[in-house]
Amino acid sequence: MTASDNQIRIFDTTLRDGEQSPGASMTLEEKLQIADILDDMGVDIIEAGFPIASNGDFEAVSEIAKASRNSVIAGLARAIHADIDRCGEAVKHANRGRIHTFVSTSPIHLKYQMNKSEEQVLDIITDTVTRARNLIDDVEWSAMDATRTPIDYLCRCVEAAIKCGATTINLPDTVGYATPDEYKQMFADVIARVPNSDKAIFSVHCHDDLGLAVANSLAGVAGGARQIECTINGLGERAGNAALEEIVMAIRTRGDVLPYQCNVDPKFLTRASKLVAGASGFAVQYNKAIVGKNAFAHESGIHQDGMLKNAETYEIMRPEDVGVKATSLIMGKHSGRHAFKDKLKELGFELGDNALQDAFRRFKDLADRKKHVYDEDIEALVENEIATATETTKVLSLTVIAGTGGPQKAILTMDVNGRHETREATGDGPVDATFNAIKAIVPHDATLQLYQVHAVTEGTDAQAEVSVRLESNGRIATGKGADTDTLVASARAYVSAMNKLAVRQQGSNPGALKAS
Ligand code: KIV
Ligand code: ZN
Repeated sequence: MTASDNQIRIFDTTLRDGEQSPGASMTLEEKLQIADILDDMGVDIIEAGFPIASNGDFEAVSEIAKASRNSVIAGLARAIHADIDRCGEAVKHANRGRIHTFVSTSPIHLKYQMNKSEEQVLDIITDTVTRARNLIDDVEWSAMDATRTPIDYLCRCVEAAIKCGATTINLPDTVGYATPDEYKQMFADVIARVPNSDKAIFSVHCHDDLGLAVANSLAGVAGGARQIECTINGLGERAGNAALEEIVMAIRTRGDVLPYQCNVDPKFLTRASKLVAGASGFAVQYNKAIVGKNAFAHESGIHQDGMLKNAETYEIMRPEDVGVKATSLIMGKHSGRHAFKDKLKELGFELGDNALQDAFRRFKDLADRKKHVYDEDIEALVENEIATATETTKVLSLTVIAGTGGPQKAILTMDVNGRHETREATGDGPVDATFNAIKAIVPHDATLQLYQVHAVTEGTDAQAEVSVRLESNGRIATGKGADTDTLVASARAYVSAMNKLAVRQQGSNPGALKAS
């Protein structure tokens, strides 16, 4: 590799470093959907998980590898034979697989975490990279905490890894400590000093503890790196990783000073962001660059005036470039099935006959209750329909008595495996009463970790989209529900999370949930 090769490989680690973020765990189906869109959008390498971490992780990496088309599928492995072998097993199903193995190199990690000398770690690198390379041709080696590693020792480690066959060398800013100048210099120095550096691609991997992850990633590229590790929405440990959408759009928008190319088609960015936010339960902040709700909104009079005269006065990117569709008013309650089907197609949904029937019924119901039905409403409705299609425990009806006079009361009817069950419960507020009614019908020990409400569109008649995250015995599941009634959406989100948790705990159908 030479720095004159200006092609940047985009390495997405949403499903590994992103999922490592506490509370962001995703189901196999969600991971498959995310990998599918990453592959479609042109991500070069998808890090699909950490196969030794659990059977679920192993299965996710293997299934993503089997379904992969163009992307390289990578799995993470510590510098341990069992990790590397398990990772090799998982990625072998991919058209193109990669083992990504890492070890710490900084003095603080060597002393306190590993209790090993520099020479011992060098031996480990030689041994484990060789082992990985005997299983697969594509091997990435990472020097964990590279930015706090003395440069002489870092160069020795990198040289050893390349000598044993590593084809990509990743030098992460694991703790998000570096500044752009330092990070750029580290790559320039390592590439200049390591005699066999031309035999590998160098990679950046930045965490956002000081809010510098994207700037550092681009600085590393200026220093000679040609792979960027990043995540959708910047999901990741602590403050997160560098955000893929920001990297891609910086490269595309500022080609004058960032003369690089990458394969990612930015039209997929908005959809991918929504998918990851929904699956992880980590909502995107309104003012987040590229994918935030306000990223292309112009509120002030001066800006609006300029925008009307020429969009370029205040807009450096066009919303449609990143897949934002102009909000359009769609059919009302008089619209027919055919128009609804066309609209779904335009929004990228292909539903089977039964699902279409159900979605159309819910659309009519929504149009009766809501004055204007927008694309976002249809998307929320259909996503809800898809997510709950296989659930055998569902909310049928809910009546809540709320107000200042408490205690608030909920009367809930659910379908549990085909049986209709009704219970009443009180609670500290209407949401608590609703959740207590669910617990009365389906007793369980899960605890509520997150409860979030968003308005899908503007106005007091907007649909509420609720996310609920539940935890039980260390397993976590996030469910979503949408409705013009926030409490109905809350009940649906809770039940959806409960269904997912049941599948994970019992490896079975949600039907395994029993009514009391
Ligand atoms: O941040 C880090 O150092 C990592 C490595 C495992 C690559 O995520
Ligand atoms: Zn990381």
